[in-house]
Amino acid sequence: MSVTVLVGAQWGDEGKGKVSCYLARQANIVARYSGGNNAGHTVVVDGQTFKLHLVPSGIFYPETLAILGSGMVIDPAAFIEELSTLQAAGYPCKNVRISPLAHLVLPYHHEIDKLQEKSRGAKALGTTRKGIGPAYADKAERIGIRLGDLLDEVKFREKFLYNMEIKRSRYRDLNGAVNPNEILDSYKRYAEVIFPMVTDTSKLLQEAIAKKQKILCEGAQGTMLDVDFGTYPYVTSSATTAGGVASGLGIPPQSVTEVLGVTKAYTTRVGEGVFPTEETGKIGEFLREQGGEYGTTTGRARRCGWLDGLVLKYGARLNGYSGLILTKLDVLSGLEEVKFCEAYEYKKERLDDFPIEMGIFAAAAPVYRSFPGWKEDITKAKKISDLPKSCRNYLAFIEEYTGVPISHISIGADRDDMIVA
Ligand code: GDP
Ligand code: IMO
Ligand code: MG
Repeated sequence: MSVTVLVGAQWGDEGKGKVSCYLARQANIVARYSGGNNAGHTVVVDGQTFKLHLVPSGIFYPETLAILGSGMVIDPAAFIEELSTLQAAGYPCKNVRISPLAHLVLPYHHEIDKLQEKSRGAKALGTTRKGIGPAYADKAERIGIRLGDLLDEVKFREKFLYNMEIKRSRYRDLNGAVNPNEILDSYKRYAEVIFPMVTDTSKLLQEAIAKKQKILCEGAQGTMLDVDFGTYPYVTSSATTAGGVASGLGIPPQSVTEVLGVTKAYTTRVGEGVFPTEETGKIGEFLREQGGEYGTTTGRARRCGWLDGLVLKYGARLNGYSGLILTKLDVLSGLEEVKFCEAYEYKKERLDDFPIEMGIFAAAAPVYRSFPGWKEDITKAKKISDLPKSCRNYLAFIEEYTGVPISHISIGADRDDMIVA
């Protein structure tokens, strides 16, 4: 039996999509457990680049099921568009299954996301504006519409009109932006496409676990964007950590056998919020350009900086990493010096652990350890010993510092650009 969880160890965009696509080759099922199309997972398969937002990477393997779990919020228009792109590229998508318990993202969620961001003024979160927060808010308020409801036209209409009434009373500016009849018509069409894929995915997964099949749980976002343990309120609205797997897929927690944390060899963040190791000068620019650090979902330039060890250690405790997968190591080639944040300084005191008090986090300054860089191109390396010595020293320190072994090193965007440690 093997249930492997792939968790973003930072603020998202760690390369989970690429890693998932690499590991999926051995999986019977790949399942997404949280988030929606705020996620953007870029994968390069046989020279072709795909940007996945809702569909897990299992889609590229016809024998593997690709599951969208109950913990997700699903925008059917975005989902169908994603399927069409994949189908046009030669992937029939017959292996997709969706939980009827997943919540729907509706057009009013997009509008409310925008209105909320506007009303936050200088405190805007920098959301992806995909309606994710408002959809999860409806779920918690128990007025959300689930995917299963979409399949019953009468029920859907009733719930939808009830929601429209509530939304209009709360958001006067919503009038005009959302046309109920158009939405009802288009969601009827979506229902017809989605209907054959809907099934009790929780039961399906439980049966697969009983048959000792291999399941890969593909995380979205990252640990620091978790609604409980992340840098609140600059987070997303779902449980992104390994804890979200049991509730987001409907499988027992003890069925999880392995948790792999995916981290870049440096750090990026998109959207607002404190980022202690951010480099706004030449180094930041170097990382952004070398790493192609522009958002997969929104195209925004990602903020870039050095690797934050406290974030990794915090994630290791929260998620219980059995291994780390280090991505984009190739991006650091050419730097004279590579820095690693090994502590924070707060009011002249050294902090060795990530502070959960956000006031402290906001005022903390990074304490760096410096490593000599390396000039060599490492994109053709096949094994650890092919890497330059200074590069290996950096990796060894990360393992020692976090107490977690590095299981894989990614040195390129293609799914097979991977060194097994
Ligand atoms: P995700 O959201 O965690 O799946 O990550 P994204 O896809 O949003 O961002 C990661 C970006 O880095 C994508 O453009 C990937 O194609 C790319 N990428 C992933 N791994 C590597 C790597 O090891 N080296 C390089 N150069 N690019 C990578
Ligand atoms: P993947 O799966 C990076 C960020 C947004 C914003 C905050 C809240 O590709 O790693 P939301 O739209 O979720 O309400 O936005 O979370 N964010 C991400 N950042 N990668 C992601 O997903 C993200 N999903 C959300 O930029 O700061
Ligand atoms: Mg991404």
